[in-house]
Amino acid sequence: MALVPPYIESLRPYEAGRGIEEVQREFHLTRVSKLASNENPLGPSPLALEAISKSLPALHLYPNGGLDLRRVLAEQFDLKIENVIAGSGSEGIMSNIIRTFLCDEDEVLTTEAAFIGFQVLAKSRGVKYRTVPYRDWHYDLPALASHINDRTKIIYLANPNNPTGTIFSKHEFDEFYKDVPERVLIILDEAYFEYAKDNPRYPDSMHYRYDNVITLRTFSKIYGLAGVRIGYGFAHEDLIKNLLKVKLPFEPSTLAQAAGIAALADKEFLHRSLELNARGLQLFTRSFRELGITVIPSDANFVMLVLARAEQAAQLTRELLVQGIIVRPLGSFGLPNCIRVSTGTDEDNQRSVEAMSKLAALVS
Ligand SMILES: Cc1ncc(COP(=O)(O)O)c(C=O)c1O
Repeated sequence: MALVPPYIESLRPYEAGRGIEEVQREFHLTRVSKLASNENPLGPSPLALEAISKSLPALHLYPNGGLDLRRVLAEQFDLKIENVIAGSGSEGIMSNIIRTFLCDEDEVLTTEAAFIGFQVLAKSRGVKYRTVPYRDWHYDLPALASHINDRTKIIYLANPNNPTGTIFSKHEFDEFYKDVPERVLIILDEAYFEYAKDNPRYPDSMHYRYDNVITLRTFSKIYGLAGVRIGYGFAHEDLIKNLLKVKLPFEPSTLAQAAGIAALADKEFLHRSLELNARGLQLFTRSFRELGITVIPSDANFVMLVLARAEQAAQLTRELLVQGIIVRPLGSFGLPNCIRVSTGTDEDNQRSVEAMSKLAALVS
């Protein structure tokens, strides 16, 4: 269609994971475990739910653009409010970063098979999108540094990374950072920060600040609030000031902001979620390996399984679905021989291991 620019025409729309009810209907199942979107299997933070209920009577009023949440985050992280932004999920902020900083001739640089949400957003801007292969399923930071050219404007790094679950250390980042010119903006996507933060190798980017780095975090994962769309970012005030010019004035919504503020204080929920995830990661890693599957060690709330062939990954995904386990095939990320399995409740995890055991012949 002549109205549509070629870089939009060639995009594939974001494919969300399949829903529980849809799978129940299609395969006549009573129990379905959705382990496809790295959500919190415990549901939303109870304190967030309470805060949402309390804010319902004020829904006729416009929200204040995230000011309350920015204030709370600034206090909690010992920053100025000018260094903090809140948005409709971290993807909402990512979208604003792309609109704010990219010009037509600029280029984006990241790893191959990066988080699909970022891929879609960057490609929809019509700029050149360049990638560097993984090294042993980790970001190859030296190779990324060597690919920076005069047109590179944004470098996207997710730590932990989705879909591999791997991390890079502060030392690795610092070595890389030495080669990044100041005119290049680094997006440090820490959507899974809370899951990794107790690993001594994992750098908390709040403990070091660079003027051309924007850190993004979300309430969608450990706080269980993917459905209300709330995320936040930290950066130099000049970056935030310009992002605020571009962002929709009334995002995040009243409910999202209230939920985020309350969730931050829900330490008990955070603790339970972390413990459950640690059990899940341990069980998946051990059990899937015992079946002869390559499992990438993960610091997030999912594991990536690497199969020999794309057909095996497709068949495994399909057969797990028949048994009521929804996992994420990674073809759309650019890894057709891989699948990603999020940790669930203990029962979900046990069911997944049992289902996978019945399919061992498929993967050997
Ligand atoms: C690396 C990464 N960044 C960002 C997001 C999106 O987070 P949000 O729901 O805050 O937009 C995800 C969700 O899967 C993710 O994996």
